[in-house]
Amino acid sequence: MARKFFVGGNWKMNGNKESIDKIIEFLTAGPLDPNCEVVVGCPAIYMDYVRSKLPAAIGVAAQNCYKAEKGAFTGETSAAMIKDVGCEWAILGHSERRNVFGESDQLIGEKVAFALQSGLKVIPCIGELLEEREAGKTTEVCFRQLKAIADNVSDWTRVVIAYEPVWAIGTGKTATPEQAQEVHSQLRTWLAENVNAQVAESTRILYGGSVTAANCRELAACPDIDGSLVGGASLKPEFVQIINATQ
Ligand code: PGA
Repeated sequence: MARKFFVGGNWKMNGNKESIDKIIEFLTAGPLDPNCEVVVGCPAIYMDYVRSKLPAAIGVAAQNCYKAEKGAFTGETSAAMIKDVGCEWAILGHSERRNVFGESDQLIGEKVAFALQSGLKVIPCIGELLEEREAGKTTEVCFRQLKAIADNVSDWTRVVIAYEPVWAIGTGKTATPEQAQEVHSQLRTWLAENVNAQVAESTRILYGGSVTAANCRELAACPDIDGSLVGGASLKPEFVQIINATQ
C-alpha cells in the first residue's frame, strides 16, 4: 500500500491573528499538491479561528491533548474540545513537551491511548538528544520512545509518527538525508518486528528538524521518509514548497 505523503506544520507558541491571517492566505492560495496530506498544528487558543478560515482539505492539529475526558486539569485541552471546534488531530510528545515540560514516555503513551480512544488522529514525536546520538544511543532511545507509543495504539490507521532528532530542531542543523533515512528504516523494521508487517508498511514516518524549502526534496526522496513535520518554516510562504516537495 502506498503511503500518502504528509506534511505537518508546527506553529509552536507563535503568531497572532494578523500573522495567522497571512499563513491562511498563502495556504489558501497554494497551489498545494493534492497528493499531499497537510495538517497545521496551531496554538489551542486559535484552533477554532484557524479551522473556520482554512479550506477543509487542510487538517488542523492541537499541539497537545490531555489524557482525561474533562475535569480539574487547569490549563489543559481535551480531545472533546479539539473535536468540538472541528479539528481532528493532535501532535503528542513533541520534544519540547518532553524536554521543557518534563513529559515522560509513560504520560505520552497514555495521551496517545486516550486521544485515539476519543476519535482523534495523532502525530506522536520521538527523537534523540545530541548527547544520546554522540553516545551511540540513537536507536535505543528512539525504540524506547516508540515502544511507549506503540503499546498504546488501538488503531494504526490514525497514527503518523514523527522522527525529530532534538539536535536538529530549531537549530538550522538538519539531519542529512542519509542520517534520517537510516533511523526511519530502523523504525520501520522495529514496527515490522514488534507490531506487524502491514503496520510497518503502511504507517507514515515523518522527519522533523530544520526542514526548509532548500532541503525538503532530498529528504522526501528517501524511501522511508513519508513527509515532514515543520516548525519555523511552516510560518513562512516557503511552507507551500515543502508541501509540494515531491512534485
Ligand atoms: P523546526 O521545528 O522545523 O523549527 O526545526 C520542527 C519541530 O519542532 O517540529
